[in-house]
Amino acid sequence: MQADTVDEVNSIYVDFLGKSGKLTKELKNLKKIPEDRRPEVGRLANEIKSTIEEVIRDKKQELKKGEGKKRVEKLDITRPGIKPNLGSLHLVTHAVREISQIFEGIGFSRVAYPEVEWDWYAFEALNFPEDHPARDEWETFFIDTEPDKKLGPMILTPHTSSGQVREMLNIVKSSSGKQIAPIRMLNLAKCYRRQSDVSHTEMFHQFEGLVVDEGITISHLKGVLEHFVKSYFGKDRKARIRPYQFQFTEPSFEVDLSCGICNGRGCRLCKEGWLEMGGAGMVHPNVLRAGKIDPERYTGFAFGWGVERVLMMKEGLNLPDLRLIYSNRIEFLKQF
Ligand code: PHE
Repeated sequence: MQADTVDEVNSIYVDFLGKSGKLTKELKNLKKIPEDRRPEVGRLANEIKSTIEEVIRDKKQELKKGEGKKRVEKLDITRPGIKPNLGSLHLVTHAVREISQIFEGIGFSRVAYPEVEWDWYAFEALNFPEDHPARDEWETFFIDTEPDKKLGPMILTPHTSSGQVREMLNIVKSSSGKQIAPIRMLNLAKCYRRQSDVSHTEMFHQFEGLVVDEGITISHLKGVLEHFVKSYFGKDRKARIRPYQFQFTEPSFEVDLSCGICNGRGCRLCKEGWLEMGGAGMVHPNVLRAGKIDPERYTGFAFGWGVERVLMMKEGLNLPDLRLIYSNRIEFLKQF
């Protein structure tokens, strides 16, 4: 028999030992038993009675103690409350939102293109020769599947530049008449490369700007760059442009930002006072052609920088290992 409360125990008691309880009745029937056996049966019945009483008394005590404890717990208003752990946004999420807002504020539209991408969009359409080292499987992750006849192998996109030609083709398709709608794309997305060390994670984020219209020049690129640097890093940070080489831009530049940790003096993170922020340049005519845009009429610029990189530069985070950002270490994440 089960009893979980004192009331239930009481009703069991009444069931057996109450006025018309099962055992009480039996005791009343004692008279009917032959006289010579009566003392023995009587003794047995009394033993049973006292056993039941004992069990019931113990059980009642045990339940009362428990109830007492519960009552104390409910009433102990001096105990400190239990605070639920509150989550917070990841530092990269904050950066993604901030960067998007800066560019959306000057007319860029955020787009999303596939992370699992075809070689054609990531390399071929971007003017990469067949033997370019970026296409090497030590740089790029390949998906283990049949290559497409036209688009080549399937890969994880190693840069957001794969969105450039996709965007051009989309805009050309949706533009009516002889004029294409101006492109002002911000492709902020995850990218993947086979690199994992103190300054690289295999998954990282890039934000890619692409502007295509009639009469777009390097000064437009410099203006946008200036706007971003001042909005994101503050008035004190400086930027410079150096000649560089990319397959899909001509001319190409590398954009540097003055180091926020040593303020240009040179430190372990930057070496000479400048941090490279990423690439930029004027869209190569072959890339415009791949996007079905006439390079004689339209020009454009593009840039592509790492979110984690600019975040580190802004915060002055001298992380011993960039992989910490994605390590799920609560002590680290709580600081942001
Ligand atoms: N995609 C290049 C990279 O991953 C950066 C870049 C983007 C360069 C656009 C020029 C123009 O490094």
